Amino acid sequence: MDTEGLMDIIEKRRNHKVFKKDPVGARDLEAILEAARWAPSPGNVQPWELVVVREADRKKRIAEIHAASMSSPGKPKEIPTVYTDPPVLVAICIDTRIKDGFPESFSREFLTYAGVGALMENMWLAAASLGLGMGTGTQPVSAQKDLQSFFGLPGHYEVPEIVQIGYPKKALGKTSRKKLEEFVHWES
Ligand SMILES: Cc1cc2nc3c(=O)[nH]c(=O)nc-3n(C[C@H](O)[C@H](O)[C@H](O)COP(=O)(O)O)c2cc1C
Repeated sequence: MDTEGLMDIIEKRRNHKVFKKDPVGARDLEAILEAARWAPSPGNVQPWELVVVREADRKKRIAEIHAASMSSPGKPKEIPTVYTDPPVLVAICIDTRIKDGFPESFSREFLTYAGVGALMENMWLAAASLGLGMGTGTQPVSAQKDLQSFFGLPGHYEVPEIVQIGYPKKALGKTSRKKLEEFVHWES
């Protein structure tokens, strides 16, 4: 693929939130997971485990955990359909023990989570190239204990993101970005 083709996919990629019920084919899902596998991470530590969730009752429980973590007294949150409607959810679980392995002279937080962004982008682009959509679902700190027990994770794991994958219900219009001259500064 040439740069033009790659740019086409980069620009086509969107944060989808509304999906059709149609299942995602096994080969397509594997291709998205393979793209995740090739994501870069600091020192190539690859601190992640991915959990693929497809059963309706498991997705519903995730939606309930998310809603409960976002609720406040007297302000219950509705169960978000963004976790129940898509055919596939992928929970990105991170082994936070890798933080201690990074030199103190760097931001250990940055090094721990920067790779998650790369992993998500790889998955996002692979999905877009297959005509599939992906959406993000950042998980609040207050959901972490429940997510750990739901996925049977030890205490040193976090679930920063649960992404949704499926066929988009509708094409999203063009999005916008800052112009290059608004954020690129040429020194010479
Ligand atoms: C690390 C990260 C976390 C995000 N978390 C959420 C989220 O929890 N919920 C949400 O609706 N969008 C989330 N987004 C999506 C962004 O809001 C979205 O990518 C941005 O508005 C640009 O839109 P586009 O992706 O359709 O171009 C997240 C994006 C990134 C990169």
